[in-house]
Amino acid sequence: MTSTEATPPRGSFLTLEGPEGGGKSSVGVRLADALSAAGHTVTFVREPGGTSVGEAIRGILLDQPGAAIAPRVEALLFNAARAQLVVERIRPALERGEVVVCDRFSDSTLAYQGHAGGLPLDELLALERISTAGVRPDLTILLDLPAEVGLARKVGAQTRFETHYGVDYHRRVRRGFQELAAAEPGRFVIVDADRPSSEVLDDVVAAAHRFLEARVPNRSARSEPNAGQRRMQG
Ligand code: TYD
Repeated sequence: MTSTEATPPRGSFLTLEGPEGGGKSSVGVRLADALSAAGHTVTFVREPGGTSVGEAIRGILLDQPGAAIAPRVEALLFNAARAQLVVERIRPALERGEVVVCDRFSDSTLAYQGHAGGLPLDELLALERISTAGVRPDLTILLDLPAEVGLARKVGAQTRFETHYGVDYHRRVRRGFQELAAAEPGRFVIVDADRPSSEVLDDVVAAAHRFLEARVPNRSARSEPNAGQRRMQG
């Protein structure tokens, strides 16, 4: 282990997870804005992506509707993108003491490639240990909704995961996330995403504030509005 890996990160790592169509991407941007407005310095990233290597891998995984990519290869590529994101963006931001908001992280690999794709979870956890080098979310907000509802919302811009995999796969993804949340109730907050987006956003922001106030009482609720900064993915 390098000395960097041995240093406990000081910031807070928040992830958004869930099946297709739960609105994570827009919720993530708005959550980052709300936390910045409350005085936190926020880095917002997404998976797969967030680095130039990661965005290239994203193209391989998502943008070829007909590509036959085995779940095992998906898992390796998602973890490769994750490893670069951790090294280049997430760990440095945590070491600067920032709040990192990440749209999907390693729970997605467990739910999609594991619970839905059939890969053994212990193998995926071993891969996760390599790619994250010990960086784990402090809080994971699961935007939960039925697979049919989420898929119906995403008719316009579909990725390979929506075109290549059927509704049964996506039902297993949802159940997988629910099982992950049940196994770690201290890390997960489940938000019902089958509701108007403003209600979903309110619950997500409230959950993040509750967590951050409990964790770092002296950094919450700073007096000046817009005191924080948000670093967007480049
Ligand atoms: P994206 O367009 O970012 O969808 P979403 O807005 O739902 O996050 O596509 C990411 C897709 O990749 C999504 O279908 C979930 C899938 N995925 C995995 O299968 N495994 C993973 O580890 C990650 C990070 C994503």
